[in-house]
Amino acid sequence: MSRKITIAIDGYSSTGKSTMAKALAQHLGYLYVDSGAMYRAVTWWAMNNGWIQEHSIDIDQMLHHLPELSIELTTSSEGFMDVWVHGEKITDAIRSMEVAQRVSQIASIAEIRHFLVAKQQQMGLEKGVVMDGRDIGTVVFPQAELKVFVQADAQVRAKRRFDELQAKGQIVDFQEILANVNDRDHQDTHRAVSPLVQAKDARVLDNTQMGRAEQLTLLINWADQAINP
Ligand code: DC
Repeated sequence: MSRKITIAIDGYSSTGKSTMAKALAQHLGYLYVDSGAMYRAVTWWAMNNGWIQEHSIDIDQMLHHLPELSIELTTSSEGFMDVWVHGEKITDAIRSMEVAQRVSQIASIAEIRHFLVAKQQQMGLEKGVVMDGRDIGTVVFPQAELKVFVQADAQVRAKRRFDELQAKGQIVDFQEILANVNDRDHQDTHRAVSPLVQAKDARVLDNTQMGRAEQLTLLINWADQAINP
């Protein structure tokens, strides 16, 4: 059996990195972890407890209860990840607009990041993991054998998101989506704690002009090279 490695996939939002990371993990028979889902789970938990209000966040209460927070990630045989908080399945709830609008604020709190980074490192102790996020190759697994940094033109990412939402029957405005993509890029790269930056030893995957199959082939190739250097 070939040796198991750690694979870190970071990059901008709406680059399709989760889909890619999941497919790669399935191909390798590795554990897949969507670290963004963990930040969303904390956000959902704090909203559910009333600590996040429209114009304020009760950080003291949230941090006071943080040590009791139990987040569990489970993977089905199809490679689909479920998210649980205190035994309640919140896989769909964390994708709501309400959570999406507040998660970057929560992800900028240092104590929350330390709490989740420790959990993520625990999940990767035995290697054989593909984790995607913003700080995986820089903070969570700086020793990862393969680091990938995913990027794509903002216009192209906005167009993909626009098509996706339209296919779901939602009425959307392209300029609004583009503004949202640019806004999230700015928040991700400008926060004080663990901003999104490309690790020095990361391989860059620009998928502006690439399809899914082509990306997966490239990733499998890179993973093979990292497993058998
Ligand atoms: O990838 P996503 O959109 O589900 O991420 C949700 C939020 O969490 C987004 O604001 C970026 C943040 N995040 C982070 O700060 N660090 C990570 N490792 C993963 C996500």
